[in-house]
Amino acid sequence: MKAEGIDIVSFGAGEPDFNTPEPVCDAAIEAIRAGFTKYTPTAGIPSLRQAISAKLERENRLRYTPDQIVVTCGAKQAIYNALQVLIDPDDEVILISPFWMTYAEQVRLAGGVPVIVQTHHKAGFIPDYEDLREAITTKTKAILVNSPSNPTGAVLPRATLKEIAGLSVRFGLWIVADEIYEHLIYDGLRHISIASLGAEVLGRTVTINGCSKSYAMTGWRIGYAAAPLEVAKAMSNLQDQVTSNATSFAQWGAVAAMNLDPSVIETMRSEFQARRDLIYDLLTAIPYVSMAKPQGAFYALPDISAYIGNELKSDSDLASYLLERAKVAVVPGSVFHGPGHIRLSYAISRKDIVKGVARIAEALSQRMA
Ligand SMILES: Cc1ncc(COP(=O)(O)O)c(C=O)c1O
Repeated sequence: MKAEGIDIVSFGAGEPDFNTPEPVCDAAIEAIRAGFTKYTPTAGIPSLRQAISAKLERENRLRYTPDQIVVTCGAKQAIYNALQVLIDPDDEVILISPFWMTYAEQVRLAGGVPVIVQTHHKAGFIPDYEDLREAITTKTKAILVNSPSNPTGAVLPRATLKEIAGLSVRFGLWIVADEIYEHLIYDGLRHISIASLGAEVLGRTVTINGCSKSYAMTGWRIGYAAAPLEVAKAMSNLQDQVTSNATSFAQWGAVAAMNLDPSVIETMRSEFQARRDLIYDLLTAIPYVSMAKPQGAFYALPDISAYIGNELKSDSDLASYLLERAKVAVVPGSVFHGPGHIRLSYAISRKDIVKGVARIAEALSQRMA
C-alpha cells in the first residue's frame, strides 16, 4: 500500500528509528580502512569479548571471563545457539506468554516442546509463581526469561526473578535470559540480570544481549551470549559450522558501542519514555481499550477484545480492518500468543503516534456505532 503511495502509519517496526551513534560508525569505517575485513575467531575478536566482559561486570554485576562470551550474528543467533546446545528432542522449554514468536520456533527447531505460561495485562504481564511451578515437569529443561519484554513491555520485578532463579536451581533448569532491551526501561526502574542473583543461578543461565536495540544497530547483526564455559564452548563449536564469526568490522563498531558515553543511550531512552507516555495516554483514552503501562522496550500491547465480533473474528481480522479502514499497520497479538491484543511499536515519531492512534480510535468507534 505504501508503494502505491497510500499514507500508512506503521506501528510494526521492531527497531529504533534513530541512526547508529557516530562513534560506532567511525570505529567500523576505520576498521575497514585498516584492513580488518578478514575472518575473525568464531566467538569474536578478543577486544570485543573483553569489552563485553567489562560491560557485564560494570552494568550488570555479572562476572563472565572473555572465554565465556560468544559473539553472534544478532541476539537471535545467540538464542538459537543456546537452545540448540541445551535442548534434546522432547525437552520442554517454558515460555512466558505473550512472547516474541521466535522463541517458540527456535525451541521447535531444536526438537523441543514449548510449554506456555500465560500472563495477563491486569497483572502487568507478570507470571504467577504457581503457574510457573505447575508448568514444570520431569521433561522441563529450560525457562526463557525476557525482561524488558517484547511484546508486553513488562519488566520483571526482582521478586519474580528470584522465584524463577529459585525454580531453576531447585529443579536443575537452564535459564535463557534475553536482556536485549535492558537499556530501554522507564520510570526510574533498573534492569536486573537474573544471573546476578547468585552463584548457583549464574551457573545455570545463558545471558543473551546485543547491540541491536540499545545502540540502534539492528542491521549490524551483533549479539552475544555469556554462559558457563562448557556451554559457551559448545555454542562456539556449533556456530563454527554454521556462520563462523559475526562480521569483522561490525565487531569493531560493537567495541565502540560497549564504551559509548551513557548520555548517548540516555537521549534515546528518554525519547522512548516520552513516546511511551504519549501512546499510553492516547490508547487508554479509547473506550473499551485496556492495557498495562509498558515499563520497558518500545511496544504497547492493548487489549482490544471488546472490538472483536461479527465479521471480525480475531485480532488478526481486526489488524486487517485497521489497515484497510484506518491505514494503520499493527501486529496482531496472536502472533505473540496474546489473542485479543494488538502490538504497537512506538519506535516512530510522536507526530505519527498521534496521527496513527487518532485513526485507530476513529476506526474503532465505527465498530461500536
Ligand atoms: C525479545 C527480542 N530478542 C531478540 C531480538 C533479536 O535481536 P537481534 O536483532 O540482535 O537478533 C529481538 C528483535 O526483535 C527481540 O524482540
